[in-house]
Amino acid sequence: MPKPLQNKTALVTGASKGLGKAIAMRLARDGAAVVVNYASDKAGAEDAVYQIVKGGGRAYALQGDISKVANIRKMFVDMEKAGFKSVDILINNAGVYPAGGLEDATEEIFDRIFDVNVKGLLFTTQEAVKRMPEGGRIVNISTDLVRVSVPAISVYSSSKGAVNVMTQDFAAALGSRRITVNAVSPGLTMTEGTSGMMTDSEWVVGYVKDTALGRMAEPRDIADVVAFLCTDDARWVTAQIIEASGGYRLGAEK
Ligand SMILES: NC(=O)c1ccc[n+]([C@@H]2O[C@H](COP(=O)([O-])OP(=O)(O)OC[C@H]3O[C@@H](n4cnc5c(N)ncnc54)[C@H](OP(=O)(O)O)[C@@H]3O)[C@@H](O)[C@H]2O)c1
Repeated sequence: MPKPLQNKTALVTGASKGLGKAIAMRLARDGAAVVVNYASDKAGAEDAVYQIVKGGGRAYALQGDISKVANIRKMFVDMEKAGFKSVDILINNAGVYPAGGLEDATEEIFDRIFDVNVKGLLFTTQEAVKRMPEGGRIVNISTDLVRVSVPAISVYSSSKGAVNVMTQDFAAALGSRRITVNAVSPGLTMTEGTSGMMTDSEWVVGYVKDTALGRMAEPRDIADVVAFLCTDDARWVTAQIIEASGGYRLGAEK
């Protein structure tokens, strides 16, 4: 049986670890050739490539710090030189989430978050769609914190609010090319980036209690949802913000 993403090329930003790595590996398992983007963690990206190739897939590690437009453009040139001339699937996963809210946000925190999460996503998409055939797929990684208020990280949450708006606007702009654009909004998920938060066991227990499904998410819980959106089965789903949080803070008494 042919795999669902056979003959497709996918670019996953921020795939050297965490959610991006899990998504890259899942898409490869579904048959896609995967370009594994990273900013600084070359070893992490190479490990993702190694695991994909070991499983019989095709992958390539591609450095590129997406916080600068010039870097993004160079990254696409490098990708073409490596033989990846078209992009069927773009996963805008790279993101940073330092704390910062009304009282303690600094200009540095604001710029860092918006440069990667918003500017990086916009200009990566701009370059990708120049190389995307009809029927392409774009999935943006957002957050459930757009729905649930956590004032201490409101700079981060608002960057993902921008991601949600862009998701809907890009979907409208690209619909005539049958390109779908959706966002997946994870709840708290165990990754390298969140490992520091997991050491506070009382807090973790409280978090889990606030989910309907009663456990912490693993990266594959998110990767599986992203993978579905990349298949032909999801061809009629576009402009949607799909939360994958195990039902976090639904408001019901537990
Ligand atoms: N984990 C969660 O609980 C959670 C919940 C909701 C949403 N999210 C979102 O999911 C995404 C991934 O989160 P994560 O927890 O997997 O993060 P993570 O473990 O910290 O990994 C972040 C990834 O993004 C890459 N990255 C960071 N800045 C970059 C840049 N300027 N250019 C290119 N790549 C860059 C990193 O690359 P290097 O390591 O090479 O620098 C790394 O591969 C983010 O968008 C985040 O906002 C996460």
